[in-house]
Formats: sequence, C-alpha cells, structure tokens
Amino acid sequence: MGDPGGSWLAGLPARAAGSMSTPLREYVEHGSGASVTAGEATQAWGRLRLHPHVLRDVTDVDPSVALLGRTSRAPFGVAPTSLQKAVHPDGEVATARATAAAGAVMVVSSNAGSTFADIAATGVTWWLQVYLPSDRTLAGPLLDRAVEAGAAAVVLTVDTPVVATWHPTQALIWDVADPAWTRVNFGPGHDDQPGSEKALDLGPHDIDWLRDRTGLPVVVKGVLRGDDARRCVQAGAAAVWVSTHGGRQLDRSVSTADALPDVRAAVGEEAEVYVDGGVRSGLDVLTALAAGADAVFVGRPVLHALVDGEAGVARWHAALLDETVEAMRLAGCRTPADTRELLPDTRQERPH
Ligand code: FNR
Repeated sequence: MGDPGGSWLAGLPARAAGSMSTPLREYVEHGSGASVTAGEATQAWGRLRLHPHVLRDVTDVDPSVALLGRTSRAPFGVAPTSLQKAVHPDGEVATARATAAAGAVMVVSSNAGSTFADIAATGVTWWLQVYLPSDRTLAGPLLDRAVEAGAAAVVLTVDTPVVATWHPTQALIWDVADPAWTRVNFGPGHDDQPGSEKALDLGPHDIDWLRDRTGLPVVVKGVLRGDDARRCVQAGAAAVWVSTHGGRQLDRSVSTADALPDVRAAVGEEAEVYVDGGVRSGLDVLTALAAGADAVFVGRPVLHALVDGEAGVARWHAALLDETVEAMRLAGCRTPADTRELLPDTRQERPH
C-alpha cells in the first residue's frame, strides 16, 4: 500500500484532538443523549460478515461509481459538516480543493463558512445540503445562490425537526465561534426573520417542491426505514441517504449498517442509496457497498484530516481509496457493483 493506510487513518482522531480547542473537539465528536447510536456506528459495520470471491482476476480494480449521472473516482465522498473554518482557516475551500483533486463529491453544509462561489471555483463536484425553514420561501435565496454557483444536487436533511440536546463540558462552540465561520451563504438578518426556524412539518411534498424550485436532483438524508425510503422515491427523490446524522439526532436509532439493507430492498434500483455513519476504513467502505450502498459518505474523519488543511484532506482521500482498493482485491471484486454479492442474504426483497 502506498500510504501506511490503516494506521494513518486509525490515528487521525487522536492527532486531530491535539490541534482542536476543547469546545471544538467536543462539538465534532459528540453524540446526542447517551451517545448510544454514535458509539455503535463503527462496530455495526464490523459485525457484518462477508462472503469473498476467489479465483478472480483483480489486477485492474475500478473503484469509481456514477452518482446522479456523474463519475466519482471513489465510491465515497465528503458528508456535510459545519464549522470547517474553525478547524482550519481555509475551511471548506481546502476540503473542496482536495476533493476536486480526488475526483470525488463534496456535500456542502448550508451552514458553511465559505461562499458557494469560492467552493465552486475549486472545480469540485458539490451538492448543497439544506434544512428547510418553517417558511419555505426563506430558503429561496440560499437555493438560488447554490444553483447559480453550480450545485449538482440538493441534499435535504430530514432527521432534524429540532436539534437534539447534548451536554458539553465546556462552552458551546457556538458561544465562542467567530461569526465568519458559519452561515455565510444566508443573507444578513436571515435568522432573525419569523419562520426561519427549522420546519416541524416536513413532508414528501417538500421533496417535490425542492426539485421544482431548483431543477436539481433531490437526495433525502436521514432515512432509516424502508417504508420512508419508498415514500421519498415516490415523491421524486433521486436518492435516499441512510444516516443517523453521526448519532447526533435521535439517540438509540438503529445503526446505519443495520438499516441499510432494508432501505436498499425497499428502493430496489429505482433510486440511488447512500449511507454514512462510522465509516473509518476501506473495509468499512467495502462492507457498506456490500450491504447495498451506491456510495458512502464520511463526516468526522474529514474534519480530523482538515486540521492539516488541503494536504490533510488529500491524504485522507488517498489513504481511504488505497484501503478500499485493497479490500476490494481481497474480496475478489473488480468494481463496486461486484461487492453486492458479498452479503448474499441482504439481496432478498422484503415485504413493506
Ligand atoms: C454533521 N452532520 C451534518 N449533517 C447535515 O446534514 N448538515 C450539517 O450541517 C451537518 N453538520 C455536522 C457537523 C459535524 C461536526 C458533524 C460531526 C456532523 C452530519 C454528517 O453529515 C454525517 O451525517 C455524519 O457526520 C456521518 O457520521 P460520521 O462519518 O461522522 O461517523
């Protein structure tokens, strides 16, 4: 392996911890409630058991995938996370440069601290993540700016009717944060307007509305059940994204590794299915693909790598891709599609 792979990736959180203030570290790492879901995420991938192929030529492995009609050179991308400018002064732009060079997708948080125009100027393929406000019309300017700057999709986060409580030991990062680190793509005074709070009444019609409003494919992030996934697809979603928000919303939610096969079975091939949560190694990526994901997204490790700016995120991309290719070879898989045969029982359709 080119990079000392596993060990470098495995050592990321500890190395990053030394470069973050306590409030920032707590903000990045925390889970909600008793952190049951956050704590189980990685272990849940480790509980799945693969049935590898042998006697297959794995000289040429192609880990690329087509996501919403565009090629991603890796079967994993960058999940939306806020406060990247608190981690490194170049913030989202550093992540975008490294992700553009890696040929992967970056999902940009609506709370980003870099402008959409600056992110887009890196040439990265990027998708906008949004939370819809009570008064949907207030989302208009943000959506327009993203469309104008060339967002290729909109990711609607649906697991956050309210932000779940957690209990930092020190000041909340928001209380010590520089206002320039966040929400620069909203107009001034946006958050003071009545109706700007997160919507409590999201429904399938919002998927349709977002698609009409932006003309972009809509991805629904935060789905954990097959029946909900079907409703998303029927409402026009191009993809559903299995996520517990990194264990930061409803604690005691099922792990994404356990929810993914049901969602894939419910959606079939009518829409793309993505997953995130606790993916830390190439073996985790392989396992997630085997369990039915078209692509895998990663949150906290990108922030850990971003401590070293663009170079850190570039190294993270390279290390995870190296590990993914190694895992694919060991499993006898030349392409991500081949991995679907590694977990035979998850391919069965289940009634919903
Ligand atoms: C997030 N996540 C998130 N999700 C989202 O839809 N919008 C957002 O602004 C954020 N912000 C955010 C900040 C931080 C610090 C973290 C750790 C997470 C959730 C994120 O997109 C993703 O679902 C999880 O992080 C995936 O789990 P892992 O890879 O962190 O285990």
